[in-house]
Amino acid sequence: MSRLLGGVFADHDPPAVAVGLTPAEFEAFVRLFSAKAAVEGLTTVARSAETGEMVGVLLTEDSSGAPPEGMEHLSAKFDPIFDILGQLDAEYRAGESARPGDCLHLFLLGVAPSCAGQGIAHQLVARCLALGASRRFRVAVTEATNTTSQHIFRKQGFVERVRRSYESHRFNGRAYFASITSRAGQCSWKGHSRRDSPCRQRRPTTGSTRRPAPSRALRAQCARRFRPRVSRTLD
Ligand SMILES: CC(C)(COP(=O)(O)OP(=O)(O)OC[C@H]1O[C@@H](n2cnc3c(N)ncnc32)[C@H](O)[C@@H]1OP(=O)(O)O)[C@@H](O)C(=O)NCCC(=O)NCCS
Repeated sequence: MSRLLGGVFADHDPPAVAVGLTPAEFEAFVRLFSAKAAVEGLTTVARSAETGEMVGVLLTEDSSGAPPEGMEHLSAKFDPIFDILGQLDAEYRAGESARPGDCLHLFLLGVAPSCAGQGIAHQLVARCLALGASRRFRVAVTEATNTTSQHIFRKQGFVERVRRSYESHRFNGRAYFASITSRAGQCSWKGHSRRDSPCRQRRPTTGSTRRPAPSRALRAQCARRFRPRVSRTLD
């Protein structure tokens, strides 16, 4: 799972490509979440019927969980990504925190390029949502960082709530995501559609917010905020 996600994100996810993450660096990030994923049993994988090889993953977690140990050892290349995702999450949550069993985080979606365009990602999302609903989660949230994933999540019923433009984002004064073309995606986005949440009464806002560079101690906190850009109700 870590190898598959590390490879597809480093090679194809626009923010990861823009900051120059290698497959090994992204794989190290995924590995931190593997034990939690195994315990929670919310992650779905797709395997080739012929070979049994893993060809797709949707790493999914209970969003109330604490971040894994070891975030401080990850490559500093992650910092601009944690920053933009942290901005989205802060705006999305607006001080609210999720209760255990309430909010399902569809975290990392990846499909092997050799199997792309066969509906595997759609199926992974649909199955994770069904599993979450069977476990009584009321809301699903996800981050969508490119046009393909945004299309997939929208089609699966997710609604954008907050967004950050790649063009206008700055981290330490630098436009790390300026190389991302509009074809790959103009923004990352996040949202929610929980019926009884106070967030429902808040109007989503757009635009970029300049923030100071996070210290390494804050990076674990940002990781906890590595939350979806979109969501849908499960009940
Ligand atoms: C994004 C990814 C998971 C898609 O996997 P996949 O199995 O090829 O996706 P599917 O075949 O289920 O669906 C692809 C859909 O995107 C559409 N699509 C393809 N390219 C697109 C583009 N540039 N813009 C918008 N939609 C696009 C397809 O038409 C299809 O939609 P449809 O079924 O309505 O026709 C895969 O490309 C991947 O692993 N990318 C790298 C990692 C990544 O970016 N993950 C998401 C981060 S949020």
